[in-house]
Amino acid sequence: MASATTVKLVLSSTVRVIDVAHAAAETMAGIAGFDEDDALNVAIAVREAVINAMLHGNKMDPTRKVEVNLRAGARSIQIRVRDHGIGFDLGATPDPLAGDNLMRTTGRGILVMRAFVDSVEFKYREGRGMEVTLTKKRAGRVAASAARPQAAVMENGGIER
Ligand SMILES: Nc1ncnc2c1ncn2[C@@H]1O[C@H](COP(=O)(O)OP(=O)(O)O)[C@@H](O)[C@H]1O
Ligand SMILES: [Mg+2]
Repeated sequence: MASATTVKLVLSSTVRVIDVAHAAAETMAGIAGFDEDDALNVAIAVREAVINAMLHGNKMDPTRKVEVNLRAGARSIQIRVRDHGIGFDLGATPDPLAGDNLMRTTGRGILVMRAFVDSVEFKYREGRGMEVTLTKKRAGRVAASAARPQAAVMENGGIER
């Protein structure tokens, strides 16, 4: 298996550097083989995670860092966004699709993340802070590889999901 390409960013909690995370995510998605549209979707999801980390996690304190770890694999991208806040209870956040919430312009970040990547996981670790892991897999043709059993290629018609 080819080794993954990795990038680690350590951002101050300031609005102006959000674009740095966005650009890094878009570039890394390209390295993982995603097309332009998907790469932009990945970047938008990362953007929402970084905004949450800075705003809700680090309370926009510029001395508190947001760490962004990006990992571009052969067929997937994984991004971990960590802040130094006290975390939150996902179950207690209002449902943005319920009743009057539909009219609100806030409360959609997590929804956007879920729409644009395959998996969004939240983990809080004492002393380490809140960590959001975003993962997206790429569809595409199976590369001709001697290591790949022919039967497996034929089973799915040459398309790997
Ligand atoms: N990193 C985080 N640390 C603490 N709370 C968070 C974090 N990310 C999200 N939240 C909580 O989840 C809620 C929903 O987040 P989101 O869907 O992005 O909407 P919004 O940021 O507009 O409120 C936030 O209002 C906040 O209470
Ligand atoms: Mg948000």
